[in-house]
Amino acid sequence: MSMPGHRYPGTVGHLVLVGMMGSGKTTVGTELARRIGCPFVDVDEQIELRQGRSIPQIFDEDGEGAFRLIERSVLAQVLACQEPSVVAVGGGAVLDSANRELMRDRGTVIWLRATPEVLCHRVGDGVGRPLLECAGGEVGSRIEELAAAREAAYHQAAHDVVNVDHLTVDEVSDLLVRFLQTEPT
Ligand code: S3P
Repeated sequence: MSMPGHRYPGTVGHLVLVGMMGSGKTTVGTELARRIGCPFVDVDEQIELRQGRSIPQIFDEDGEGAFRLIERSVLAQVLACQEPSVVAVGGGAVLDSANRELMRDRGTVIWLRATPEVLCHRVGDGVGRPLLECAGGEVGSRIEELAAAREAAYHQAAHDVVNVDHLTVDEVSDLLVRFLQTEPT
């Protein structure tokens, strides 16, 4: 099994998963990496490891602006790694045009797209996700708002889209494995 290397002109080997909070990037990424036998890297987890604090703590102590700068720097470090990996990227990273460009440049970017209803069901009360926690009881409308505001950025970032609403983690992973096995036309 090979990583997407030359699927899109100019891309190198990472398979980069983007999408809203709750779209399944971490669970799908973990399963996909296991199946194809390559490393899985979660950018949120790397941020926490390198900072020695949780994402809610970073938001709380330094604010979202500071978090986005850290996110941009850690994403660049992760994507600079030569070993082809499956990389899950936090939901808001696509808002930065430099991040979008870098992701497309360093890999094949797949958008795991889900409707706000499904996302809302999956994130529950939003605990551990600062952008949802601040919405109080209004997690549903906050997700709708964020999803609408980010739609164009996901389109710009992604080479391909998988609509995950009615798919299990195994089914999404199956699709992505088949995608990686198919020769580009
Ligand atoms: C964020 C998504 C989170 C995390 C941070 C901000 C966002 O990652 O990076 O809380 O702006 O959508 P997940 O998408 O992995 O939950």
